[in-house]
Amino acid sequence: MGIQKFDIVIIGAGPAGYVCAIRASQLGLNVACIDSRPTLGGTCLNVGCIPSKALLISSHKFSEAKEHFAKHGIQTGEMTLDLATMQARQAKWVEDLTKGITYLFKKNKITFFEGQASFLGQAKVLIQLNDGHTQQVEAKHIIVATGSVPTELLGIDIDEQQIVSSTGVLSLKKVPEHLVVIGGGYIGLEMGSVWQRLGARVTVVEFLDKIIPAMDHGMGQTLYKQLSKQGLGFKLETKVTGVKKTSKGVTLFLEGIKDRQKSELSCDVVLVAAGRKPLTAGLGLEDIGVKLSPQGHIVVNQRFETNVSGVYAIGDVIPGPMLAHKAEEEGIVLAELLAGQGGEVNYGAIPAVIYTQPEVASVGKTEEELKASGIEYKVGLFPLTASSRAKANGQTEGFVKVLAGTNNDKVLGVHIIAPEAGTMIAEAVLAMEFSASSEDIARTCHAHPTLNEAFKEAALAVTGHAIHI
Ligand code: FAD
Ligand code: NAI
Repeated sequence: MGIQKFDIVIIGAGPAGYVCAIRASQLGLNVACIDSRPTLGGTCLNVGCIPSKALLISSHKFSEAKEHFAKHGIQTGEMTLDLATMQARQAKWVEDLTKGITYLFKKNKITFFEGQASFLGQAKVLIQLNDGHTQQVEAKHIIVATGSVPTELLGIDIDEQQIVSSTGVLSLKKVPEHLVVIGGGYIGLEMGSVWQRLGARVTVVEFLDKIIPAMDHGMGQTLYKQLSKQGLGFKLETKVTGVKKTSKGVTLFLEGIKDRQKSELSCDVVLVAAGRKPLTAGLGLEDIGVKLSPQGHIVVNQRFETNVSGVYAIGDVIPGPMLAHKAEEEGIVLAELLAGQGGEVNYGAIPAVIYTQPEVASVGKTEEELKASGIEYKVGLFPLTASSRAKANGQTEGFVKVLAGTNNDKVLGVHIIAPEAGTMIAEAVLAMEFSASSEDIARTCHAHPTLNEAFKEAALAVTGHAIHI
């Protein structure tokens, strides 16, 4: 077929690309989107956010039923696990949601090409279609939204059977006896929790002296205690120096970062979760001169323009947190800019949530960041042990921390560790979007009895006036 022309061509149909495509189409632009995956939604819907959360809720229900129902006076008898049904449920929701994006593409008249894209020129893209044919497309604006892939560790080859990435760990056929997770970040703790709840012994090997290192320190400490209590094992300040596959499983060779103490750890499955890196390979960016950062991100300005006119980038492939909602915001803002509207992403108000139990959620600055930049702040802390709803729920592990400027009381950061922290944080994000002071929150009526009252109490605690502590 001859060259097809569009206003916008988007490479990648993840949260950055598909949301950008829908918004641009809503604004009257003629849009094409390309993805090598047959199903839409990118990493997030296919092998990321959605399947991991489906397994998190299933495994949570299993562990609740096994370990906590009796406290509520509910006797269940012997519990058994039907992993195949649990996996099938996960796959069904992934299928439903990816089909939902296909429907939205049709509804918005977005042309989808299933294949591998690469630049032929700054306004021209070649698609190696999955059906074996090729197609060329041209557009005034070409957007790279190719996302990210797991970071590989030197000498550790992922086979997705014994040594797995975040993708392989989602579809293990049986519960491992011992799962070793390399990396105490988002994926390691979420997927470590899943398999620990389902019966595996789990050991997390983390390079640094703490887990979730980018989060406010207090949250990492509390989460570490809670996950340890649940049965997760940790080897902090430890690096993996080698891995050997044996007939029985895998042996990891470890070394203490400080004491250089060498040790070995045997397991049946290893999950490598040591971060993700931007995916730009095979796009031919070097041929058209698009600049990359030393870390491999595409360098863009505030309008998501690369150094090459007409070429833009959004989502995990550019710097910033590798989160679906950050990618979506960028997709919407870029579509609006290309349609001639204004807009920008408020990077100071992007929440981050780790869906362990309790959940960890954060927005704005951490105490460590405020100290490092010399900003004076006050702290309002409210423990869940003082929340009536948390007590009634029997889940009092955690707290809400509000950080507010000493001079103007403006909310600078909110950090929550609580059973529903991921939902609770939305209120804090909204408050920060509206430049709220801690007093604004403290004077806002919150329904009783809810966990969100802890947010109001933490805001009251900024001036030492919390009612329930
Ligand atoms: P992606 O979703 O990676 O999409 C990029 C798409 O581009 C892919 O479909 C890929 O096939 C396609 N592509 C790449 N190169 C080409 C090419 N040359 N030609 C054609 N197509 C191409 N984030 C959250 O906010 N919340 C969560 O709970 C969460 N959970 C996660 C759990 C896991 C296990 C993982 C791995 C990630 C999770 N994330 C989560 C992160 C989230 O998935 C990413 O931040 C998000 O998907 C990034 O969106 P994106 O559109 O930039 O890239
Ligand atoms: P991560 O960056 O969250 O954590 C990686 C951890 O591995 C860090 O603590 C790091 O210190 C450690 N590490 C790095 N190299 C190591 C080594 N050689 N040995 C031992 N430890 C090492 O990365 P992760 O968990 O792979 O997730 C990637 C990204 O995906 C996240 O940063 C996040 O952006 C996204 N994600 C988001 C989720 C959510 O929003 N709930 C869930 C899952 C992923």
